[in-house]
Amino acid sequence: MIEIVRHADNLSGTVRLPGDKSISHRYAMLAAIAQGTSVLAHFASSRDCRSTLGCLRSLGVEIIESGDKAIIAGRGLRGLRAPGSVLDAGNSGTTMRLLSGILAGYPFESSISGDASLCGRPMGRIIRPLVEMGAAVESREKDLPPLKIRGGALQGIRYALPVASAQVKSCILLAGLYGSGSTAVGETVPTRDHTELALKEFGAQVRFGGDWIEVDPGPELRARSLSIPGDLSGAAFFLAAAALSRRSELYLTGVGLNRRRRVLLDYLLEAGLDLAIENESEEAGEPRGDLRVRYSPGLVEGKLPPIRRDRAAALIDEIPVLSVLGSRTAGGVEISDAAELRVKESDRISAIASNLRSMGAAVEEKKDGLDIPGGQRLKGADIRTRGDHRIAMAFAVAGLWAEGETRIHDAECADVSFPGFWDVLRSVIKG
Ligand code: S3P
Repeated sequence: MIEIVRHADNLSGTVRLPGDKSISHRYAMLAAIAQGTSVLAHFASSRDCRSTLGCLRSLGVEIIESGDKAIIAGRGLRGLRAPGSVLDAGNSGTTMRLLSGILAGYPFESSISGDASLCGRPMGRIIRPLVEMGAAVESREKDLPPLKIRGGALQGIRYALPVASAQVKSCILLAGLYGSGSTAVGETVPTRDHTELALKEFGAQVRFGGDWIEVDPGPELRARSLSIPGDLSGAAFFLAAAALSRRSELYLTGVGLNRRRRVLLDYLLEAGLDLAIENESEEAGEPRGDLRVRYSPGLVEGKLPPIRRDRAAALIDEIPVLSVLGSRTAGGVEISDAAELRVKESDRISAIASNLRSMGAAVEEKKDGLDIPGGQRLKGADIRTRGDHRIAMAFAVAGLWAEGETRIHDAECADVSFPGFWDVLRSVIKG
C-alpha cells in the first residue's frame, strides 16, 4: 500500500496513542505465567503484540480480546504447554528475545521463528547467556533465527550486558525466574526498565543495586488488572510534526512517561520544543500524563543536541524521526554510538540516509550514526520503507514539511507498532 503525504501547516486536535508496545509484551508474558486471570486494559493492538499473544496461545494460554482489553488466563510459572508447531514471532524482536528467556525454563523443545527481517537479526546476544544458564539453544548459522530451545534446570547467573539492550536484559531476568539461585544482570548504559517494574508488579522479588538488577527464582506470580499507557515512541512522530508546522497544536493523552523513556521529552525540551506535560499520574510504577505540543520556532532556529553515548541508547527508537527533524532545524544533528540501528527491523542508518537523500537532503552516513546538516529543504519523493514501521512514520512526518508529494511505499508496516497511524495523521491535518 502506498500512502501519499502532502505539505501541511496546521495540525491540530487530540491524539490517543495505542498502548505501549514494550509494556504490553511484558504484561502479556507475565500474565501467562502468573496464577489467575489478568485483565490488561489499553493493550497494544500493534502487530508485534499480536505476535506475542499468538505465541502464548500456541503455548496453551487462553486469551480473550475484548475491546481494547486482553484477558489472559495464567497457567502458573511452570504451566505452559509444549507448542504443536513453530512459534511465530512475526517482525517482533521483543517477542523472540523475551519469550526465549521463558522457554529456556521449560524442559520441552520449542522452536521460534519470524519474518525475513527478524530472521536476519542477531540472537547470539541471548543465546550466550541462556546457554551459560544451562539451556540448549540451536540457531541457524551466525546465531540467526529460527531458534530451537530446550531448557529446564537452569542455574542463576551474574551477567554483565555486553550490549545496551533491554531485550537481552529482560530475556535473562525472565530465565532467572527458572534458575536454581538468583540471577543478576548488570548494565552500564541504562535501558528501558519495564521488565523490572512489571516483575515487581506481578509479585517477583527484584532487587536493585548500583548498575545491577537481581531476581529470585521460583516466585508465585499473581494475576493483575493493569492499564497500559499510550506509547511514547508513537507520540514522538506527532511531537516532531507539530514542532515544525506553523499553526499546530496537538494534545496527546495518557502517554507513558517511564523515566528511562522520557529522556526523549527532556531532549526535545532542551532543543526548544514548546511542550507542556499535564495531569501526571502513575500506575504499577509506570508514570503517564498528557502532552500539549505547539509549533516551536525556538527549536526550528536552533540545533538539536548531539545524540551519543547513553542518549543514543535511550533514544534508539526515536532516531529515525529525530534525524528527519534535524534536517529541518537550522543547525542539524549529529548522531554517533548508535550502531545498534543497523540491526533493527531494517538497517536504519542506511534507510534514513538513503530516504533523506532521495528527498534532496545532504547526509553523511557513519558506521555508528549520521551527520545531518541543518536548514535543508525537503522535496517530496518515493520513500522506500524496507518494511520498517519507524522509517515509514518518520518519513510521513518529513512529507508534511516537504514541497510536493511524498509517497510512502509499504505504508501498512506502520501497523507493527501503530495500527491506525495513517487515519490518526489524516485526522489532525487541518490544512
Ligand atoms: C525494546 C528494546 C529496544 C527497542 C525495541 C523495544 C523492548 O531494543 O529498540 O523497539 O521492548 O525491550 P533493544 O533491546 O534491542 O535495544
